[in-house]
Amino acid sequence: MTIEKQKRNILTNDLNSDNSNSLDLSFEDFTLRYKDVFEKELLSYITSNQSDKRKILEEAMTYSLMAKGKRFRPMLVIATFLMFSSDIKKIMPLACAIEMSHTYSLIHDDLPAMDNDDFRRGALTCHKKFGEDVAILAGDTLNTYAYEILSSNLTYESKKILNVIVEFSKAQGIDGMAGGQMLDLAGHSLQKKASHHLETTHRLKTGKIIESCIILPAILENAPDGVKQLLKEFGQIVGLLFQITDDILDVVGTSKELGKTSNKDVEQNKLTYVTYYGLDESKRMASNLVMKGQEIADKLNNKVYRDIMSFMIKRTF
Ligand code: IPE
Ligand code: IPE
Ligand code: MG
Ligand code: MG
Ligand code: MG
Repeated sequence: MTIEKQKRNILTNDLNSDNSNSLDLSFEDFTLRYKDVFEKELLSYITSNQSDKRKILEEAMTYSLMAKGKRFRPMLVIATFLMFSSDIKKIMPLACAIEMSHTYSLIHDDLPAMDNDDFRRGALTCHKKFGEDVAILAGDTLNTYAYEILSSNLTYESKKILNVIVEFSKAQGIDGMAGGQMLDLAGHSLQKKASHHLETTHRLKTGKIIESCIILPAILENAPDGVKQLLKEFGQIVGLLFQITDDILDVVGTSKELGKTSNKDVEQNKLTYVTYYGLDESKRMASNLVMKGQEIADKLNNKVYRDIMSFMIKRTF
């Protein structure tokens, strides 16, 4: 896959609009403001220049990537970046790379050997639509493409880009998403020490990539150490809370609104916050995290961050 530079230059012009005061918006309005520009940018990385069988691979990648995702991670990237700079086209490669990599994790998470899900983002899962073989490759290719974008499209000093690539690799590897997915697989049979196992699983499988959305823009933008520390703490809270609320939504949400089948966790005997602590206690734990997150958001003077915390417990999808 090659990146069509010319097409991308045209699209990035859309990103030169006035970004001042965006951090005073509610998260919902913030998303309304940036989701379309982000998706245009994401689409600009997609080419349809294959004429042989690889066309199917390209279709499968595009199908999952451009389906109706919340784009929560790229919005976090932008909301963090705007604390330091308003030139958002500089951060778009990072936002796009993370969304590609997240989409890869969803495609593989849904495979029959993993969670065996039929619906994702309001549509058939990648393997249901294109077959398991193609879905595996679509995930592999999206993830590899994320690294191609980070290394060729970020316009910061090489040293910082390298640092971002190292940190993002770790967030995806054995001490990150993939390791967390492994712990998730092992959760079924656990009774003793399950609470520790559960928190570690969530912090790794979901938390690390979400943390990256918050810490990587700060690395690129040379945030002072004190600010980086607060961002790290905020990222850890958002990451854990996001998966706790995903566990809650699995029980209280509807398949239609979630765009994926609800009530899967009990059916598959998964160890989740709800199956371990119960619904009420999970909600209480989530509310505690919201309060902690809001305190940090206030210290950072970032209203979007503050609103993200309440959005997460109010969300219905
Ligand atoms: C789902 O992530 C998988 C988890 C890590 C819980 P999202 O809820 O962000 O899914 P999309 O991107 O909106 O489809
Ligand atoms: C998935 O967690 C986390 C990933 C790394 C993709 P879940 O398995 O709970 O996510 P959903 O509920 O299928 O979206
Ligand atoms: Mg899973
Ligand atoms: Mg799943
Ligand atoms: Mg889930």
